[in-house]
Amino acid sequence: MARKDLAQILESARCAPTPHNMQNFEIVVVSDKKLLGAISSIESPISDEFIRENYQQLSFSEEELLKKKVGILGTNFPPDWRDPAKLDKAVRESAPSPLNQRITGSPLLLIVIYDSRKRAPASDGDVLGFISLGCVMENMWLMAQSLGISVHILSVFSGDAVEKEVKRILNVPEYMKIAFVIRLGYPVSRPAKHLRVRRDMEMLTHHNRFGNKGFS
Ligand SMILES: Cc1cc2nc3c(=O)[nH]c(=O)nc-3n(C[C@H](O)[C@H](O)[C@H](O)COP(=O)(O)O)c2cc1C
Repeated sequence: MARKDLAQILESARCAPTPHNMQNFEIVVVSDKKLLGAISSIESPISDEFIRENYQQLSFSEEELLKKKVGILGTNFPPDWRDPAKLDKAVRESAPSPLNQRITGSPLLLIVIYDSRKRAPASDGDVLGFISLGCVMENMWLMAQSLGISVHILSVFSGDAVEKEVKRILNVPEYMKIAFVIRLGYPVSRPAKHLRVRRDMEMLTHHNRFGNKGFS
């Protein structure tokens, strides 16, 4: 990745707003092939929770997704994950898979970490701190996109088993947690089109009082 592009993406993170200007994050930029290889071979287990809660977000056809306007298409997942009668079996049989299925070919990973011992003042569960990690993510995402660089967010890195291994490989101290990982790359072809849905404005806005749908 061109140093200039990477610097701009990191600069957008550096400038992100945070509660009390705590700047509660650090970023490990991983470009070393050996380290990327070691990370790629980490086995990622799939939790019971993930399979069951993932199912709640699925639509089973494009028509259904277009109607629901939230969630994602079930066709992205194995058949057993899409069938309520087979979810128990899917949970029982799910085997860990290596991360390289998700990060193959990535020249660069940005590992965004935060200090789990700190929190934004009086913020229950550090919700405010987590919101600012979202600001960091969004700033980098928008900057990368504006530079023509593709972004893939990887939540899988913050799962306990993967996080532990990644922290070991990269010498990240115990008290730091992985918020998320961004995989960056210049697209080699036009990105495959996928169905993108969002709710209509009246579904998420209320005028003056809750329940008065819309914003005017
Ligand atoms: C906090 C957060 C975590 C996400 N984690 C992942 C992820 O682990 N893997 C992935 O492919 N996309 C991930 N995404 C991307 C979302 O799945 C995507 O934004 C959403 O499905 C809407 O898709 P669209 O923006 O392409 O329409 C994440 C997005 C956010 C904001």
